[in-house]
Amino acid sequence: MSAPLLLIAPLPDFLRTPLNQQYELHDYFKADDKEAMLREHGARIRAIVGVGGSVVQPDFLERLPALEIISVNGVGYDGVAVDYCKGRGIRVTNTPEVLTDDVADVAVALVLMSSRGLVRANRLLHADKWGEGTSTLTSKATGKKAGIVGLGRIGKAVAKRLAAFDMEIAYHGRSSQDVPYAYHADLLALAAWADFLIVVTPGGAGTQHLINAKVLAALGAKGTLINVARGSVVDEQALISALRAGIIKGAGLDVFEHEPKVPAELQAMEHVVLLPHVGSATHETRRAMGQLVLDNLAAHFGGRPLPTPVV
Ligand code: 8YV
Repeated sequence: MSAPLLLIAPLPDFLRTPLNQQYELHDYFKADDKEAMLREHGARIRAIVGVGGSVVQPDFLERLPALEIISVNGVGYDGVAVDYCKGRGIRVTNTPEVLTDDVADVAVALVLMSSRGLVRANRLLHADKWGEGTSTLTSKATGKKAGIVGLGRIGKAVAKRLAAFDMEIAYHGRSSQDVPYAYHADLLALAAWADFLIVVTPGGAGTQHLINAKVLAALGAKGTLINVARGSVVDEQALISALRAGIIKGAGLDVFEHEPKVPAELQAMEHVVLLPHVGSATHETRRAMGQLVLDNLAAHFGGRPLPTPVV
């Protein structure tokens, strides 16, 4: 008999279909009466599948006494109560590595789109305003200073790409690493130095509002904030105030504090580039992520080592 699985977020068909074939799938995310679903099936559920932003906290997990594994279709598992899971012996898996290139590519795109005013230029030509487009000068990207907040896998991939743009690279993180980039233990110092402050650090309580009004003030009028990590890392109200007052030059954002809600203030700003959390959204990468979700579940239920365990 196939294991009962609770699906807590919508998934693409290429992942949903095999899950549906291999498990007893319960669409929790679209159930009208979630409480009834938990009452009816909660005690038997053995697996959860969610996405990067999914919130899976103890109050919810208490309702699932037979739960064995949470498979996250994303690299970020900041919404999952990992310590609680560890305590209960619930395995947690994510999808690292396979999305690194795509997310780094989008970070670079945001650097170029924001510095070169490419979004506006594109919009002008769609409106047949060639003259207005060519007469607007922008800022050079090549050779500028990139400050990376969080030099993990994705941070390193961003650094590698920006080095090809002759950018000087420095980073902030919990500790210094054996890399050819300058380490700033002090985030304010990194922000003061950088032309682009690029946020690639994991979300969660430890990084909540790491980018606050002080950091933005240090970044200053020469600086652009890029965020491809989690909206929670940036104090969005402080960012809006800094952008409105010209304290920083601009921003390029793929993630927001309360997705899918994008603040109207940001939508109205010409010096902000906004993307709807598309960092990993390519056919190739989303399929590879989906395969990891399937492989982790199959390994768990087949009694084999998990390919990409968190705990
Ligand atoms: C996805 C993400 O958008 O990997 C993450 O942590 O946030 C993204 O890659 C999300 O998980 C959708 O599956």
